Amino acid sequence: MKILLTGGAGFIGSHTAVELLAGGFEVVVVDNYSNSDVSVNDRIVQAAKWQISRQKDDKLKIDMDNLPITFYYGDCRDGMFLDSVFRENEIDAVIHFAGLKAVGESVEKPLAYYDNNLGSTLVLLNVMKDHNVKKLIFSSSATVYSGDNKMPLDENSKTGNCTNPYGWTKYMIEEILRDEALADKEWSIALLRYFNPVGAHASGLIGEEPNGIPNNLMPYICRVAAGQGLGIRGQKLGKEYQKLKVFGNDYPTKDGTGVRDYIHVVDLAKGHVAAVSYLYRHSGAEAINLGTGQGYSVLDMVQTFAKVNDVPVPYEITGRRAGDVAEVYANPAKAKKELLWQAELGLEDMVRDAWGYMVKKCE
Ligand code: NAD
Ligand code: WQD
Repeated sequence: MKILLTGGAGFIGSHTAVELLAGGFEVVVVDNYSNSDVSVNDRIVQAAKWQISRQKDDKLKIDMDNLPITFYYGDCRDGMFLDSVFRENEIDAVIHFAGLKAVGESVEKPLAYYDNNLGSTLVLLNVMKDHNVKKLIFSSSATVYSGDNKMPLDENSKTGNCTNPYGWTKYMIEEILRDEALADKEWSIALLRYFNPVGAHASGLIGEEPNGIPNNLMPYICRVAAGQGLGIRGQKLGKEYQKLKVFGNDYPTKDGTGVRDYIHVVDLAKGHVAAVSYLYRHSGAEAINLGTGQGYSVLDMVQTFAKVNDVPVPYEITGRRAGDVAEVYANPAKAKKELLWQAELGLEDMVRDAWGYMVKKCE
């Protein structure tokens, strides 16, 4: 079975490519490398070999010297280009990761976000229809849920009232996909709502590569920890990484800091492999949470990171970040029932693997 991954060189896409290869699937990656590096291509292959060589199940008889993966450099908004990818490959299903994802940047550049995220999806849908490929997994986000829901969030929790253009693009794309699935019953679509993906592949070969100063907690912790001794690719880290800023300790949570549902990116990638099978026993468009159901506070993250990796993570408490809420965590029951999948890795695995990737990068 051949799966097209748009944005397959990115953080979640690269880990999913590895899981698919290790599961005996053929993979086609399309990326414009706007938020990734072409060197990831080779590292995906190396990470897949690393993983397959450790796999107990040899029934799949995977040819390690000739892993079935093809990489295309191109933009998903370019219909002619995408059409050529479909002509050259018999694609069975698509996982649409490609898109811009920085919340703050989306407030500054809303048009870039609407253009890229909506534009790439519309072009992709038309090309898929032309080639009669109607199985799609879409990278949605917990950000589509309104801020006034009770926790945990299940798929019937209220959506909308997004606080930024990025969130609206995910909300709007979900609506577009639902409308299309209503109009054409041949579609099978999974709208996977990710919570907070963190960590990296256990090989240390692929991981998260934020451009510029990271907005998200885990990559920031990694940089602060790296600043305590390591440099990134030989460069000294800037002043902004001397301490982590903890955004508020006056939330109604166990220690006053924000609580989130962090999920290991390898678990998330496995959720996509499970969702591919689901597409074959389902029709219509269905929203499914991918989270662990377990919330951790910012201080849980900092302290576990420091303890497991034996590195200091200095921090200071600052004011709340605009738009943040106290707690966000999933009810993951639907994924267990429908995808036959649940997260297996814990917080210690997440912090260990995130740091493992950082250390390898600095070598
Ligand atoms: P990422 O930026 O690492 O990966 C996205 C990839 O898409 C990048 O390699 C980028 O170069 C590529 N890309 C962007 N626009 C493109 C275009 N027009 N054509 C071709 N390639 C394009 O992001 P990620 O963390 O791997 O996220 C993947 C998807 O999951 C995104 O849609 C994101 O919005 C969604 N998501 C991410 C998170 C998260 O916290 N990481 C949470 C929820 C949802
Ligand atoms: C986590 C916690 C912060 C940085 C975002 C997007 C969401 C989704 C995932 C794509 C919060 C605190 C953070 C720092 C801190 N992405 N924090 N100091 O905000 O839950 O979700 O990424 O769909 O749409 O909004 O993740 O990692 O930014 O923050 O104290 O330097 O860490 O306040 O409590 P968030 P995050």
